[in-house]
Amino acid sequence: MFTKYNILKFKYILFISIFVTLSLPANSELSVEEIIKARKALFSKNYSIAKKVQTFSSKGEFEKAKSLMIEMSENYKTLIEYFPDNTKEGFKTEALPSIWENKDEFNDLMKKSSNDMIKLASIIENTDDVKASLGELMWGNCKACHSKFRAPH
Ligand code: HEC
Repeated sequence: MFTKYNILKFKYILFISIFVTLSLPANSELSVEEIIKARKALFSKNYSIAKKVQTFSSKGEFEKAKSLMIEMSENYKTLIEYFPDNTKEGFKTEALPSIWENKDEFNDLMKKSSNDMIKLASIIENTDDVKASLGELMWGNCKACHSKFRAPH
């Protein structure tokens, strides 16, 4: 149930996450190598967070799951800034040229993935099917993006 207290807590976590993201150093001072390595690290981090989200959600530990969902959502927003034009190749990137040929579509998919995590946090406690909701609002977005924008690995 979404009690008044829960909503307040939710807003508080959201506020903190935004604050932390805004206070990170701007990526414009980073080298190509640092940008590519940083985005890979952030994707890997989201993958490990996603697995925890799945574990907590299936155990019914929704408060823990929800704060991780919000962290993932913020990481997606950060990732949008990690694909400047000079980072198309090198340093073992698996990013495909299609990203820069369809930049709006790519960014929209990143924003959708971010928004879907917020949506997931708001419905997870009341959904009839936790697994299906995770598939639709979390795992589905990884697949949708990788199939078009990430090299087979
Ligand atoms: C909007 C696009 C997009 C979404 C959504 C997305 N990814 Fe990715 N992912 C990429 C791209 C592009 C790369 C390649 C980055 C590079 O190598 O520079 C990548 C790379 C990765 C990597 C490899 C990181 C490394 O160390 O090389 C992992 C793991 C990963 N993604 C997991 C996930 C998971 C799990 C999800 C969903 C929870 C997800 N991604 C959602 C685009 C996306």
